[in-house]
Amino acid sequence: MFRFASLPPLSLYIHLPWCMRKCPYCDFNSHAAAMPVPEAEYIEALLRDLEQDLPRVRGRTVQTVFLGGGTPSLFSPGSVDKLLTGVRERVVLAPGAEITLEANPGTVELARFRGYAAAGVNRLSIGVQSFDPEKLAALGRIHGRDEALAATQAARQAGFDNFNLDLMFGLPQQTVAQAIADIDTAMAQQPAHISLYQLTIEPNTLFHAQPPALPDEETIWTMQQELQARMARSGYRQYEVSAYAAGARECQHNLNYWRFGDYLGIGAGAHAKITDATAIARLRKPAHPREYLSGAGTPAGVAEEQPLTQHNAAAEFMLNALRLRDGFAPALFEERTGLPIDVIDAALAEARKKSLLRVERERIQPTETGYRYLDDLITLFL
Ligand SMILES: C[S@@+](CC[C@H](N)C(=O)[O-])C[C@H]1O[C@@H](n2cnc3c(N)ncnc32)[C@H](O)[C@@H]1O
Ligand code: SF4
Repeated sequence: MFRFASLPPLSLYIHLPWCMRKCPYCDFNSHAAAMPVPEAEYIEALLRDLEQDLPRVRGRTVQTVFLGGGTPSLFSPGSVDKLLTGVRERVVLAPGAEITLEANPGTVELARFRGYAAAGVNRLSIGVQSFDPEKLAALGRIHGRDEALAATQAARQAGFDNFNLDLMFGLPQQTVAQAIADIDTAMAQQPAHISLYQLTIEPNTLFHAQPPALPDEETIWTMQQELQARMARSGYRQYEVSAYAAGARECQHNLNYWRFGDYLGIGAGAHAKITDATAIARLRKPAHPREYLSGAGTPAGVAEEQPLTQHNAAAEFMLNALRLRDGFAPALFEERTGLPIDVIDAALAEARKKSLLRVERERIQPTETGYRYLDDLITLFL
């Protein structure tokens, strides 16, 4: 039996599943769109979907909203406005709630960004990936260096001082110097936040079937060290495995995931996690856009639901919270899992013995070694 002293903060994730074309490394639920995208129809479906979820979160305030994809910036500002208005009519948003929209260079211009701002979006996440024309071509991106630079400039001109740049490293045939040039160009745009991911080859992608020549492990390790050192020197603090913030500009929406908060998920294949008085449930909406469009708001659109066992709740909390550089307070574990911290005593002791974890009264935090070998550390709790 779980015992919750209080319910976790609640976020809202909205999935917009279409892209201009499918990138060869991408395993997200994203689909090359036959243009134009059925914007109006999809937004109606999203709002029916939200409506159907409301009884699960009655009386709770939504702290953050994230429009992710896919390529949300394929949707016009008018559609985003309609969507956010519909969201506000159905749930209470916290004052000043962070509202992020993912935007891809090559699909945006100043007027579009201004429109998103007017609709209430107050944070942009721009999927730059690289500023190197050759690497962008190798990644199958629709944009080049100029479009990437133009997108960051337009973000600023439209008044978004809070914007993130997504970058990847370990790209096909990338050298350390090329990776450094990318991070330096990114930082020169003075984003509030950088998400830096190592390119991974995922099953069910074109890169899996036809693998490109990637740098060797040692080069990738050097790259990572160099990039992190440069970001630290410029004031980008790593607060999560892939996330770096200037000052206090952490992504509040993602922080809520890592702190094992609750979130609603609407849209094709969107995931959710919802805590009630006695249980934690994971939910998932129908994944295919066509199936989603016809089912949303009807019995066919109801999420697949899976209750978490106590063991899984504890494991999932650790899987998320250990990604945070500062770790977490034991009280947060108890609050979010509804379980006493004793349930992970044996694993904590083991991790401490291996010098992977610092365990103090007020804080549990990966050591340098623990953070470097995070998978080994997390495995102890699974
Ligand atoms: C939800 S995705 C897509 C956002 C947006 N559609 C775009 O492509 O710019 C968020 C980020 O995950 C990263 N990503 C996607 N596939 C990846 C992979 N195979 N390896 C590493 N990072 C990946 C990219 O940096 C991407 O911007
Ligand atoms: S644009 Fe983004 S979401 Fe779409 S296919 Fe490419 S990486 Fe995936």
